[in-house]
Amino acid sequence: MTSSIYASERYWNERYLKHNASSSKSSQNEKEEWFMGYDRLKATLDVHLTLEPSSSRGLFLGSGLSLLPFDMVADNFFEGEVWAVDFSQVCIEQCNAMVEEKGLQNLHFEHLDVRRMDKFSPGFFRNIIDKATLDTLFNYEDSESVNLMLAEVYRLLCTNGVYFVLSYSDDRATALGNFGWSVSQHALVRGKATYHLYVMNKK
Ligand SMILES: C[S@@+](CC[C@H](N)C(=O)[O-])C[C@H]1O[C@@H](n2cnc3c(N)ncnc32)[C@H](O)[C@@H]1O
Repeated sequence: MTSSIYASERYWNERYLKHNASSSKSSQNEKEEWFMGYDRLKATLDVHLTLEPSSSRGLFLGSGLSLLPFDMVADNFFEGEVWAVDFSQVCIEQCNAMVEEKGLQNLHFEHLDVRRMDKFSPGFFRNIIDKATLDTLFNYEDSESVNLMLAEVYRLLCTNGVYFVLSYSDDRATALGNFGWSVSQHALVRGKATYHLYVMNKK
């Protein structure tokens, strides 16, 4: 068992309910965008994500209220269907309402735990995007959640698929290196902050 608040669905539900009550939809999402949004990430994503027409299915892990899935789908970044998963039912409901409002038919939000994504078959995704969610699981107090999540990501990624992680930490390569993909690490400086980008390519 873990006592970290970040491992608690209830913590995230309450946080998202509070934001919903206190702000308009667009400003609420801006406040809940971790690290940076699509405007600042686009060039980096263009360089590191491999996309092949008709097979570029995408998955966002622990998507929260980030606008990244909405912006990337609206920008036609993916050719195929896109899923975003989170274990907060509240955030999934809010994101589903936004999908309807924006009419984005190939974007699907699912209430799922990233440690168990049985809904999807092996090799289903070419691109898996993770912004601050691996960091969140590192903040759980148990030692196995990170490995459970990474094993699921490895299972779901197709050959030549890319797993893209944006983290606040420069110390994720060891955990990521336990799987059969290549790992490259890059620093991403934004103003006074340095973030760390990990790109895994499954061969
Ligand atoms: C730090 S926030 C990042 C949100 C979003 N990726 C962003 O960049 O703005 C972490 C998100 O992961 C979700 N989360 C935490 N543990 C999870 C788990 N085991 N399965 C699915 N989602 C989880 C939380 O509900 C939260 O929305």
